[in-house]
Amino acid sequence: MNKKDTHNPSTVPGVASPHVLAPLPYAENALEPVITAKTLSFHYGKHHKGYVDNLNKLIAGTEYADLSLEKIITSTVGKPEKTTIFNNAAQTWNHTFYWNSLTPMGGGEPPAALKQKIEASFGSVDACKKELASAAVSQFGSGWVWLVLDGGALKVVKTANADIPITMGFTPLLTIDVWEHAYYLDYQNRRVDYANAVLDKLINWEFALQNAS
Ligand SMILES: [Fe+2]
Repeated sequence: MNKKDTHNPSTVPGVASPHVLAPLPYAENALEPVITAKTLSFHYGKHHKGYVDNLNKLIAGTEYADLSLEKIITSTVGKPEKTTIFNNAAQTWNHTFYWNSLTPMGGGEPPAALKQKIEASFGSVDACKKELASAAVSQFGSGWVWLVLDGGALKVVKTANADIPITMGFTPLLTIDVWEHAYYLDYQNRRVDYANAVLDKLINWEFALQNAS
């Protein structure tokens, strides 16, 4: 199993389509009050499921039908004629990674091994959180904010639409979805409040540490 496959529990290396919608790692109301069950129900049950269903329809009978999710993403990135397949594959991957980047008991202090890496790269956990929140606010339009490993250092990157750091040579550690569908029912236009609440109450530092190890 290559390392990136471990980031997506929906992907079993070597097993081809149909790709499956990975189960949520918690109940739909488990992230309340930061993210309501209503938001989670639409976001997971309609948006995420839609990407998986579209992907399966798009790749049926094509050269991509027998490829892992990661392989589909890396094989279609940057190819204008494959944009629709790329978008649905990457959004399938990104959302599974996002659900795992959150946990009902999240926020707080990162585990010591991660805290050390954060302090080495950002100076402090607060500075890292501020940079994540600032990236969430400054991403123009739909996209994602990521904490990634770039060589030995941690950094914050933002991507537009479905774009995904595994195609850029980075190892993603955690992500925050900043598409409006992630927060609009709960926060309307207040993306900054959503990002700060997620960072303070839900962010899954343990997951980030697993991905950094
Ligand atoms: Fe989303």
